[in-house]
Amino acid sequence: MTSLSASPAWQALLAHSTRFSQRDSRCCDLLNDNKRFSEYSLQHEQLLLDYSKNFCTAETMQLLFCLAQQTQVSAAIEAMFTGKKINITENRAALHTALRIPPTNNPYPEVVTTIQRMADLVHAVHSGEWQGCTGERISDVVNIGIGGSDLGPAMVSEALASYSCSEVKLHFVSNVDPVQLTATLAKLDPARTLFIIASKSFRTLETRENANSARKWFLLAGHGKDDIARHFIAITTNLKAAEEFGINSQNLFPLWDWVGGRFSLWSAIGLSIALAIGMENFRDLLAGAYSMDRHFQSSPLEQNIPVVMALLSIWYTGFFNAHSSAVVPYAQPLRQLPRFLQQLCMESLGKRTAKDGSVIDTNSGEVIWGTEGTNGQHSYFQLLHQGTEFIPVDFIAVAKSAVADELPQHRQLLANCLSQSLALLQGRLHPTDEARSFPGNRPSNTLLLADLTPYNLGSLIALYEHKVYVQSVIWGINAFDQFGVELGKDLSESLYTAFADQAQRESLDPSTKGLMELMLKWGE
Ligand code: F6P
Repeated sequence: MTSLSASPAWQALLAHSTRFSQRDSRCCDLLNDNKRFSEYSLQHEQLLLDYSKNFCTAETMQLLFCLAQQTQVSAAIEAMFTGKKINITENRAALHTALRIPPTNNPYPEVVTTIQRMADLVHAVHSGEWQGCTGERISDVVNIGIGGSDLGPAMVSEALASYSCSEVKLHFVSNVDPVQLTATLAKLDPARTLFIIASKSFRTLETRENANSARKWFLLAGHGKDDIARHFIAITTNLKAAEEFGINSQNLFPLWDWVGGRFSLWSAIGLSIALAIGMENFRDLLAGAYSMDRHFQSSPLEQNIPVVMALLSIWYTGFFNAHSSAVVPYAQPLRQLPRFLQQLCMESLGKRTAKDGSVIDTNSGEVIWGTEGTNGQHSYFQLLHQGTEFIPVDFIAVAKSAVADELPQHRQLLANCLSQSLALLQGRLHPTDEARSFPGNRPSNTLLLADLTPYNLGSLIALYEHKVYVQSVIWGINAFDQFGVELGKDLSESLYTAFADQAQRESLDPSTKGLMELMLKWGE
C-alpha cells in the first residue's frame, strides 16, 4: 500500500494547511461571511452539525473529499452495509447496522426473533408476570458487564431516564473492584433482583468475578440453585459457558460474532435499556440509528455528516498535530457520552498498523475525553482556551429542555455552549498582558439535537459509529479488532497467581516485585 502521507490527496492537504498555521491567520474571520452557517452545516432530521467554526474553506473541504475518494470511502461504506468481512483480522463482517433494520424488512431472522424475545421479557418483568423465586415482583435489575457490555447501556439508560416507564430500578456493575458490586448489592433484596450477565465472550475476568459473587450472594440469602433461573439472564455468543454458569437455556439471549462489543447496545446487550425505557422507546432508539444509517449509506460525501466529521478529525490529527479531541455535551443526561465514545473511538482507532500490516505513517486515533457542560468550564476549559495543546471540541446541545418549567435556566446552558465555541475561535488579545490574552483560533463542531428523544439519541450514537468507521478507512485501520487489550489481560492472570506464590514473585522484575510485596504487607 502506498503510504498515506505520500499520497497525492495528503500532499495537497499538507500544502494547503500552511495557510492556517500562519501566525496572522484569524479563522474567526471566516465567520464574517453571512453564508458561513448555511454553507457549513448539515442537517439530518432533528440533528444538525454546524462545522462553520472549523479551519476550513471550500478548498479545504474539496481537498478532504478528494482524500475520501482516494481512500475509497464510498466503497468501504457499501462493504460494511452489505456484510463484507471488513474485520479482516478476525475474518468477520461488522454488521451492527443489521440490528437496527425494522423487523418488517429485516433479512436477519435471528435479529427479529431476539428483539421479540426481548419484548416478551420486558413485558413479563414490567407486568409482574415474571416473578422472583418467592413469588415477588422484580424491583431491581443489575447489569453485570464491562466495556461494550456496560458503557452503551449505562449511557443510554441515563440519557433517557425521563423515558423510564416502570418501577424497576437499574444498576450497573462493571469494575472488578469488589467495592462496586458490594455497594450495589447492599441496597438490594435477592428475592426481587434480576441479574443480567452481559458478556459477548462470557470470558471477561471482571464480569466473571462479579457474576460469581452475585450468584454467591443470591445463594447465601438462602435460595437454591434451581431458583437461579428466576434471577439470572445472560447475553452472550458463548451460550455453552453461560449454561455452565447455571443460566437456564430459556434465559439466554444470543449475540453474534459480527457485532463488536462497542457496537452492541442495539442487540440484546441493550436489554437493560429496554427494561428501563420500555420496548417501544427501545425500538425508537433503533429507528433513529437506522435513519442515520440510511443517511450515511445514501448521502453524497459532501452532504454526509459522519464523513464530514471524520474528515475534520483527520484534518486536525494529520495536519495540526491534534493529539486529543474533547466531547462536551451541554446536557446533563448525556453526562456519560464521553466515556462511551472513549471506548468506541479509542478501541477502534488506537492502532499503529494498517490492515495490510504496514506501520501507519500519520497520526491515527486521537485521545477522546470530556465531561458535561457547564461543569467542564470550571475544570479543564482553562487549558482549552489558553494551553499549548491544540484540542478541537465537539459541543453537543439539545434545544429543548428535559425540564419544561426551567426555560430561563436551560437558556443559560445553551448560551454557555454557544459562548464557549465562540470564545475558543475568536479569542481576545490583551494589548499588554500575554497571560490575559486568549489566542483564539481553536476549532469546534456543534451538534444540535432538537430534543433528547430515543430516536435522536439513536441517530447521534450511530453518527459517531460511522464517523469512526470513516476515519479507520482513511487511515487503513481495522476498526473492529482490539488486540491492544490482550497483553495487560495476559499479564494480570500470571501476576494474580504470584500474590500467593513466593517463588514466582522472586522471578518478577524489581518494580512489580517491590510493589506486590508492599501490597501484600500493607493489605494484610
Ligand atoms: O477488553 C476489551 C473488550 O473485549 C471490549 O472490546 C469489550 O467490549 C469488553 O472487553 C467486554 O467484553 P465481553 O462483552 O466479551 O465481556
